[in-house]
Amino acid sequence: MPSDRPASPLSSPLSSSTPANDEFASNAFPHALGDIHFRMLVDAVQDYAIFMLDPDGRVASWNRGAQNIKGYAGQEIIGHHFSVFYTPDDVAAAKPRTELALAASEGHIEDEGWRVRKDGSRFWANVTITAIHAPDGTLRGFAKVTRDMTDRLRLIELQHASALSLHVQSAREDERTRIARELHDDLGQQLVALKMDVAALGQTADDSKTARQPIEQTIALQAQIDSIIASARRIAGGLRPPMLDDLGLGAATEWLAEEFRNRYRLAVTVRNEVDQLVLSPTAATAIFRIVQEALTNVTRHAEATRVRVEMRVVQDEFRMHIEDNGKGTTLDRSRSKQNFGLLGMQERVRQLHGQATFDSAPGDGFRIDISLPVDAVKANQGGNQGIATPPYR
Ligand SMILES: Nc1ncnc2c1ncn2[C@@H]1O[C@H](COP(=O)(O)OP(=O)(O)O)[C@@H](O)[C@H]1O
Ligand SMILES: [Mg+2]
Repeated sequence: MPSDRPASPLSSPLSSSTPANDEFASNAFPHALGDIHFRMLVDAVQDYAIFMLDPDGRVASWNRGAQNIKGYAGQEIIGHHFSVFYTPDDVAAAKPRTELALAASEGHIEDEGWRVRKDGSRFWANVTITAIHAPDGTLRGFAKVTRDMTDRLRLIELQHASALSLHVQSAREDERTRIARELHDDLGQQLVALKMDVAALGQTADDSKTARQPIEQTIALQAQIDSIIASARRIAGGLRPPMLDDLGLGAATEWLAEEFRNRYRLAVTVRNEVDQLVLSPTAATAIFRIVQEALTNVTRHAEATRVRVEMRVVQDEFRMHIEDNGKGTTLDRSRSKQNFGLLGMQERVRQLHGQATFDSAPGDGFRIDISLPVDAVKANQGGNQGIATPPYR
């Protein structure tokens, strides 16, 4: 039965009779298993670790790919048990031994999982182990082919993360739309009804001296209700401006600019030259959210007095430029990882196959440039659910 661990650590003298040297071709494959040309071919493979194990699981040959992937030179590893390639958990679970036993009984096994390099780092491996038998049926050893799939795994993870973020974004947008509607329609109407009731109450009271105080109170109440209605509208608008769906990006952006002018005394100018372009709802929402985040950043970080938002179409590209005259910043890549505003902009732009660039320096304001292929942002031809961008007033 093969053991899972070499009797001694890797520094022990090698038990293999194979000469230890760097010339792969001379030691990569035991002579009995193939001719010189085949051994040279195997040795030359860079992207796959191809090596032999003896029946007990000790490494008997090594190729260039094995050195690339696992980090050991041939002379370091030949003669050692192959369980050093497995994680401690897998070794504790007797996985190396189980895989060899399975390969011996089934002839061949395939596995994917984490394996360990010489330096202790892990890689995601695709592994096949094939049993090699002598003509008389005795087990001669195993041929093992290992491929490093880490990059592919990362790519799949990235694709999943991107799909997930798209899903989260659209779910969040739906939720905002729903809450905005409830605030505006349900709460808003109830408040209007309440205000009318209070007004009626004030009118039924006569003008006698004892009634004067309640009348004044109903007037004050009406003013309070008005301000609650205004707050509810403002909150609903912030969640999702109703004009984004009805009047389009241009109107929604202008509304947003007005909000920032009034609330932050910021001179926001919007120049919209994309009135010909009918945007898809996704693109209109994405662009609106980018402007919203950019303006929020100006009020939070810039100490600016002026912001310019420009949208135009140049050839096949929708282009947006947002620029403030504030104190600017040093753009630091590592720091931006913790700030989700700029990252969120980049993610939205990436989903629309476009590009976002940020440019700033201390004392020199902040500039955002977005370019999106028109094909990726325009509403489906013939579809009627597009969002128009009416011209700037
Ligand atoms: N208009 C701006 N002027 C100056 N600095 C800015 C501006 N916009 C963004 N920044 C800087 O970039 C950082 C990242 O912005 P962001 O990703 O939106 O994160 P957050 O707003 O949550 O800090 C901010 O913390 C700020 O330092
Ligand atoms: Mg921000």
